[in-house]
Amino acid sequence: MVRVEALEKAYPGRKGEPPVKAVNNISFSVGEGSLVGLLGPNGAGKTTTVKMLCGLVKPDSGRIFINGKELTKRRIPALAEVSAVLEGNRNVYWRLTARENLEFFAALKGLNPAALRSEIDYYLEFFQLVEKSDVEARKLSRGMQQKLAIAAALIANSKVVLLDEPTLGLDVQASYEIRQLLKKIVEEQGRTVILTTHDMNVVQDTCERVIIINQGKIVADDSVHNLLDLFRMKVYKIVIQGELNAEQRQALGAMEEVVIEEESPQRTVISVRLEGSQILYDVIGILGSYNSVLESIDQEQNNFERVFLEILKGGVESA
Ligand SMILES: Nc1ncnc2c1ncn2[C@@H]1O[C@H](COP(=O)(O)OP(=O)(O)O)[C@@H](O)[C@H]1O
Ligand SMILES: [Mg+2]
Repeated sequence: MVRVEALEKAYPGRKGEPPVKAVNNISFSVGEGSLVGLLGPNGAGKTTTVKMLCGLVKPDSGRIFINGKELTKRRIPALAEVSAVLEGNRNVYWRLTARENLEFFAALKGLNPAALRSEIDYYLEFFQLVEKSDVEARKLSRGMQQKLAIAAALIANSKVVLLDEPTLGLDVQASYEIRQLLKKIVEEQGRTVILTTHDMNVVQDTCERVIIINQGKIVADDSVHNLLDLFRMKVYKIVIQGELNAEQRQALGAMEEVVIEEESPQRTVISVRLEGSQILYDVIGILGSYNSVLESIDQEQNNFERVFLEILKGGVESA
């Protein structure tokens, strides 16, 4: 549904500075009916990528295909297949009511007025905005404004929906609600949704697949499940009573896979990244030979944040 080949974009640098390579040779494709997260720290190039996909920024080079239509060749047919909600909620008109906003966006997309009413009612209902139909957008909460902006993008019925930081600045409740609604819309309507975020938690519970970008380049492109698995097997956390002695500290400190995460007179927490299980026995040997009392050994919590940080450090080879 979306295919991007060797996309590049540089912005002119500030006075005397070299240009900023915001997107540096990015390629990926996304199949119909999937929900893919574009994840990366601030400045990674996510917004620039999305803006190129919806025709707001022209790439320096590379090609973009939307539903088989090449955006980089003929804009209009390709852009008819995409709608986008960019960062922030400037996508709704503050003086129009919720319903009027949807009417406006539907009209912009040339929707048939007869089909309009039921369509608008459907989205007001879907996004739990029925009671707010006649309230001006500026009077809605940020979460509601964001839902309205997403509804406005969906009403166009385009196959591809791009959402740039859809939960940014929302409270926990609103953020959670929007994630659930996005999953539902993909399941029920088979839309193709690409969302950007710098919050790994958003990706972890929304997307099947994640493309991680850093400094304009893709550093991982895999299912969230696989990326989690890769690490689940590798990190063990060992807790012992009390402190380490100097010999233990030195021996463990010399091991690349070992991190002494916490040390106090009460307890010491050590994490071990496993390449092979031998290292775990070595570590336990070092602890045991000085009669340290083992409190627990656990596989680390399945935590996407850690995966994300490891990938950004270049600590994992991934497909
Ligand atoms: N209009 C612009 N002019 C100059 N530099 C820009 C512009 N927009 C973005 N950049 C730079 O490009 C890089 C990528 O930005 P962006 O795509 O907004 O990243 P993200 O959305 O991942 O935070 C950053 O270094 C940013 O400062
Ligand atoms: Mg951004």
